[in-house]
Amino acid sequence: MQQTRLGSTGLSVSRICLGMMTYGTPDWRPWVLDEAASRPLVKHAVDLGINFFDTADMYSGGQSEVLTGRFLREFCRRDEIVVATKVFFPVDVTFSGGVAAGGKLPPVAPNKLGLSRKRIFHAIDESLARLGTDYVDLYQIHRFDPNTPVEETMEALHDVVKAGKARYIGASSMWAWQFAKMQQVARTHGWTPFASMQNHYNLAYREEEREMLPLCRDQGVAVIPWSPLARGFLAGNRKAGDKQGGATSRAETDNIAQTYYYRASDFATVERLGAMAAAKGVSNATLAYAWLLHKGVTAPIIGASKLPQLDQAAAATELVLTADEVAQLEAGYEPHPVTGHA
Ligand SMILES: NC(=O)c1ccc[n+]([C@@H]2O[C@H](COP(=O)([O-])OP(=O)(O)OC[C@H]3O[C@@H](n4cnc5c(N)ncnc54)[C@H](OP(=O)(O)O)[C@@H]3O)[C@@H](O)[C@H]2O)c1
Repeated sequence: MQQTRLGSTGLSVSRICLGMMTYGTPDWRPWVLDEAASRPLVKHAVDLGINFFDTADMYSGGQSEVLTGRFLREFCRRDEIVVATKVFFPVDVTFSGGVAAGGKLPPVAPNKLGLSRKRIFHAIDESLARLGTDYVDLYQIHRFDPNTPVEETMEALHDVVKAGKARYIGASSMWAWQFAKMQQVARTHGWTPFASMQNHYNLAYREEEREMLPLCRDQGVAVIPWSPLARGFLAGNRKAGDKQGGATSRAETDNIAQTYYYRASDFATVERLGAMAAAKGVSNATLAYAWLLHKGVTAPIIGASKLPQLDQAAAATELVLTADEVAQLEAGYEPHPVTGHA
């Protein structure tokens, strides 16, 4: 497994990051795997050389962090791995997320949502307790908080770093101007800037190429995209004209994917991907990840529900594409409404 640096930092991360949203409890989302089903997958990821793991406090109402901590203690040395988590949304197993896809926030008790100083200080301690570790390597804001002054959030994150509870900070989906503003505020005050951007980017959703990706490239910020297979859509086993159809539990029940993708042009993208993958003798998934790696991405954050999916992700780091092939995969893309920010 290749390693690279996280943006401008000295932190060494595998070119494939394992997304831990798939592991927790199916009480949260029906396609999520429980502890027994998850363990062999995480073990196999570690055996493949993956040392970068991404979770969030809200996944499975905190159970994803619990399993992440437990598995990594079982399989890894703490000083070799990079554990990333996130703060913003309420931690409540009845809140399945997907606000940008029409999901509704539950009634939230005061200070259970957002990026105030109070919320961040509380949330980091809760995450550390669930993960069973003294520090996280990368502490990310899951969204932009329009209700908290940017200065308050950036100073609180800096204080979390200075308290030794996080080594680096990162951000996730937001408008490029919001990200640039937060970075500017941090720099002006001598606070810790974000090292990474975790955004929505894959062959079926390329809106980030307009503003966010050039900004990150210019500023030396690592790009670690979420849903690199468009939540499984790019695998080629989702059905046009039947959103609840498909080969897997996630295909049937992932209402967020059903909102974001499934347009005719998205199916055309999958067809092009599938044809080139077949010609190369690799899976759609391997080729879709390889495309991302050729677009200057640091590490896609992959979701894996079956063991061979991990091997297919690892294979992507060895697959070399020509500029022509990259262009062929992109041809015919139709712009999407911006999704994944709320
Ligand atoms: N920051 C954010 O707002 C945000 C949002 C979403 C996700 N994330 C992060 O990103 C991670 C990945 O998200 P994701 O799970 O949506 O990613 P994804 O890689 O786009 O989708 C993963 C799904 O694709 C299918 N799949 C994976 N490998 C495959 C293969 N080789 N062949 C066929 N199908 C394959 C599996 O679904 P089946 O079960 O159908 O096989 C799997 O559950 C999460 O765990 C989380 O850490 C962050």
